[in-house]
Amino acid sequence: MEGHDGSGSAGELLARHREVLPNWLALYYDQPIELVRGEGARVWDGDGNEYLDFFGGIVTTISGHVVPRLVRALSEQAGKIAHSSTLYLIRPMVELAERLTGIAPIDLPVKAFFVGSGTEAVEAALLFATTWRRSNEIIALRNSYHGRSFGAIGITGNRGWSASSFSPLNVSYALSPYCYRCPLGLTYPACGVACAEDVRNVIETTTTGEPAAMIAEPIQGVGGFVTPPPEYFGIVKSILDEFGIPFIADEVQTGFGRTGEAFWGIEGYGVHPDAIVCAKGLGNGMAMGAVVSRADMMESLRANSISTFGGNPLASTYALANLDHIEENRLQENAYKVGNALYRGLKDLEDRFDVVGEVRGKGLMVGVEMVSDATSKAPSPEAVAKVMESCKEQGLLLGKGGLYGNVLRLSPPLSITEDDVARAIETLEVAFGEAATLGSP
Ligand SMILES: Cc1ncc(COP(=O)(O)O)c(C=O)c1O
Repeated sequence: MEGHDGSGSAGELLARHREVLPNWLALYYDQPIELVRGEGARVWDGDGNEYLDFFGGIVTTISGHVVPRLVRALSEQAGKIAHSSTLYLIRPMVELAERLTGIAPIDLPVKAFFVGSGTEAVEAALLFATTWRRSNEIIALRNSYHGRSFGAIGITGNRGWSASSFSPLNVSYALSPYCYRCPLGLTYPACGVACAEDVRNVIETTTTGEPAAMIAEPIQGVGGFVTPPPEYFGIVKSILDEFGIPFIADEVQTGFGRTGEAFWGIEGYGVHPDAIVCAKGLGNGMAMGAVVSRADMMESLRANSISTFGGNPLASTYALANLDHIEENRLQENAYKVGNALYRGLKDLEDRFDVVGEVRGKGLMVGVEMVSDATSKAPSPEAVAKVMESCKEQGLLLGKGGLYGNVLRLSPPLSITEDDVARAIETLEVAFGEAATLGSP
């Protein structure tokens, strides 16, 4: 069967995919789909089915698909020069660095370095911090995800994404600020955010006292949009400051207005990090990552370093147009407004459906943890699978995550409307109803 783009059916493409790509490269859905076209928050598969895209290519297409001004910026630059390398001056890269260093909530002189992905940005930040501090000790969080390379896996606190136990780093894991499944069995706020205090104990018992850095996601993305309580990062940062330990915010998912309340996720916690790692939303789908950090940390390298593709004219031009688009269309404000509507609508469903354990998140980064019932809180990846399939049938794409694969992840483009939110909620209401019958005769 021919798809609408004339390239053949999804079934035939799936067979070819399985033949030549590794078996761990997971695909969503019983019958995987090929997305061949997009426009704003809508995408179409090869059979012409339309979907509302509430995952945005894994929290990436922050401005939406095929935004005319971005397409224009890209094709105009492609018509001039696509690549030159950092051996030559690159005007859009310098402009992008000026832009990012200007908006980073980092004290002291700041510099930016560009790479091709989030993983590579994490790697670069680890290299800078470990060189600067002359230590290979890193503090990370349990239930974290930082990428797929050797070093990034080494600081990823999630068994499902840890393909190797080998690591160039000596890593200590602090408790995840995961209130719904509190690792200390406590309840917020009576807990006094005891999980944050754990960082002190980790430093005192598992490190030399002078680790290179602590790295954390402001909201744990792959971990299931685990959203720390408001005081968490303030307490952690004050403990790190006592010991003089730098803090790296991994903003790969939370950056660029996604959380609605601030441009960077960590700003919502009132904390100034020493370095920020970003990617995904920066390029709205173009392969691009960056580290923005204190200049003394970044410039501690005593050897040459280079990224052939990092900051190339095409990606930098596109990212600059993307940042303009986010700012001029007040997408962060929209994420706050429609994100609240989405959150409230889902909270109503949480009250009505026993299989919905917890709705959490900020702005347009909303997670729904599915359980077999609200009393046992037993994780239900089956309910997630059912909801994903049902939503797909109804024309809504979602993501999933969580340590147990039982969390739905909603991260649409920040440009969605209240009508889009209403449609997503209606769709999820039907899907939760279907998931609620799982296990019934
Ligand atoms: C918080 C975080 N850091 C790093 C990465 C790695 O980014 P990439 O997949 O672009 O290498 C991801 C990817 O999901 C992420 O969520």
